Amino acid sequence: MYKLFIKPLLFKFDAETAHKIVFTLLALVTKIPGVKAIVYFIYSTNNKKLERNLFGLKFKNPVGMAAGFDKNAKLFNEFSYFGFGFVEIGTVTPLPQDGNEKPRLFRLPKDNALINRMGFNNDGATVISKRLQKRYTSVIVGGNIGKNKSTLLENAAEDYEKCFNELFDVVHYFAVNVSSPNTPGLRSLQEKGPLTEILLRLQKLNQLKDKPKPILLKIAPDLTNEQLDEIIEIILQTKISGIIATNTTIERSGLSTAEVEIDAMGNGGLSGLPLNKRATEVISYIAKKSNKAFPIIGVGGIHSAEDAMEKLNAGADLVQLYTGYVYEGPALVKKINKRILENG
Ligand code: FNR
Repeated sequence: MYKLFIKPLLFKFDAETAHKIVFTLLALVTKIPGVKAIVYFIYSTNNKKLERNLFGLKFKNPVGMAAGFDKNAKLFNEFSYFGFGFVEIGTVTPLPQDGNEKPRLFRLPKDNALINRMGFNNDGATVISKRLQKRYTSVIVGGNIGKNKSTLLENAAEDYEKCFNELFDVVHYFAVNVSSPNTPGLRSLQEKGPLTEILLRLQKLNQLKDKPKPILLKIAPDLTNEQLDEIIEIILQTKISGIIATNTTIERSGLSTAEVEIDAMGNGGLSGLPLNKRATEVISYIAKKSNKAFPIIGVGGIHSAEDAMEKLNAGADLVQLYTGYVYEGPALVKKINKRILENG
């Protein structure tokens, strides 16, 4: 149904407009009495065997929505009816910001991929925190946090602290995003000095709370093995709860889309099928090198149940989807959960 009727219609619009249409329609349609129950019936898989207990949280199933899809926490309740075991909202910055100039989101249909340079367009931590108070489902919500573009890199830790404080009471876990290619300099925060500082400062705040929240680090797929080794060390040293691998890539090699078209799209992070292999490599490397010392959320190019199984077999405990959801449609979540059950 999605691939035959809805996708061809949506793909007639530019990618960001299509995303807006989906959000507007979903918000309206799910208000109609009975619709949520039907959606739940079609897309959810309810089975105790799918449950995962990680960093003190109980996930109904291991398939989550990746950050960037529901940046402003507008539909996190609704997405739980679509079968997701968890929804990561954000990236949230302390102050609201518009993001980069449009167009900033491009489809590469020949590659089953997207290129985006959204630049953390979001409503800011205060507004998003209020929205998150209106939770009426038991879905696990992750808060993906970042820094405002206007904040100097040397003051980045303060931005992460502000978001952490603002969202603490309304999210189940935090994802520290230092890996988006669309905020100038952000990825340099993956280096040992600044990264250790950010994570230690967040852990310090966390320890002051009655019940500390799990903090995970989201990393880029473009890191070298030496950099990954350093990241593992930092995670163990700062005692954060785990890692999310990976964000989008700045790589453009091996694509079927014509080079002129890719060049015309310009800078940004590539997601979807071309990222699949590298993201799995990163997961596998971290799992082996760390001796599975901490949980891993695997993300990047999952477009089928097989892709998800590969990530899980490589060492991921949970998986997340973004681009695969756009290309394959909402049935993908159930397909993955069913395959996990079949594989025991
Ligand atoms: C993203 N992603 C992302 N990640 C993040 O940590 N914060 C964000 O704000 C965003 N925003 C965003 C916007 C768009 C349009 C896309 C396509 C992606 C990255 C996303 O969460 C995921 O890590 C990558 O897209 C790789 O997974 P997929 O898309 O290949 O399944």
